[in-house]
Amino acid sequence: MPEPGPLDTVAQGDGFEDYYGLLAALHGYLRPRVYLEIGVHEGHSFQLASDALMAIGVDPEPNLRFPLPPGGRILRVTSDELFTKVDLATVTGGQSVDMAFIDGAHLFENALTDFANIERHCARGSTVLIHDCVPIDAVTSSRARTTVVWSGDVWKLVVCLRRWRPDLEVTTIDVPPTGLAIVTALDPTSSVLGDNFGEMCTELVPLTYDDIAGDFDSLLRPVRLGWTAIQGLLPAPYRGINERPVGGRLSGTGPA
Ligand SMILES: C[S@@+](CC[C@H](N)C(=O)[O-])C[C@H]1O[C@@H](n2cnc3c(N)ncnc32)[C@H](O)[C@@H]1O
Repeated sequence: MPEPGPLDTVAQGDGFEDYYGLLAALHGYLRPRVYLEIGVHEGHSFQLASDALMAIGVDPEPNLRFPLPPGGRILRVTSDELFTKVDLATVTGGQSVDMAFIDGAHLFENALTDFANIERHCARGSTVLIHDCVPIDAVTSSRARTTVVWSGDVWKLVVCLRRWRPDLEVTTIDVPPTGLAIVTALDPTSSVLGDNFGEMCTELVPLTYDDIAGDFDSLLRPVRLGWTAIQGLLPAPYRGINERPVGGRLSGTGPA
């Protein structure tokens, strides 16, 4: 996978206006057969999965204001419940998840659990996106929510994956407002995250924004990239141009 070169780095102010724009481009290019989103809220990001054959949104308290994508279905459960009580493989008909977006509970250990659980349902060539990986400041990136814009300490997941899973390709895109990490080269057989979960939490949960402020760039390595460079980080599209989602096939809300 090519490293983005200096010519691919866009100037501050260029690139995608926000993460919705980047998500739309990722959907348009990757064309996932199965898309999984943890944390749907109003359905703004979920509606961008309009081309996915199957789009599964997971949220215990969705408050939909945007239309469901044609292949979309909301499961009103927490992500933990998805992986413990709901059989995701049954929901997908045994297909692996091509593309996933983690944007549920905003604490490090929740995002880590989400990533580890999702990876088991991926193929090596799948793509996992993690929202909120570029913290703005100490207040909005702390574990306690006191502000409207709040990324929580999800950013620690990038620190964790870089340290414990050097086999993964992790790129932290600095897209407003709080960044989006792209993870590829997945290993659904890896047990590293599950086996070392306690140690990871002991080490990283107490870490604060101020602790990493001096090493911010080296730990998170946020990059502002144009689409050409981002495309170079991605696997080939998951399907060709002829397969279209079937309208309403999986639409609906409610428990699995
Ligand atoms: C920031 S919002 C998601 C925004 C949405 N992805 C977007 O960009 O348009 C976070 C959502 O995660 C949901 N959430 C909180 N804890 C969760 C959990 N344990 N599992 C799944 N979703 C959760 C909340 O109910 C909330 O709707």
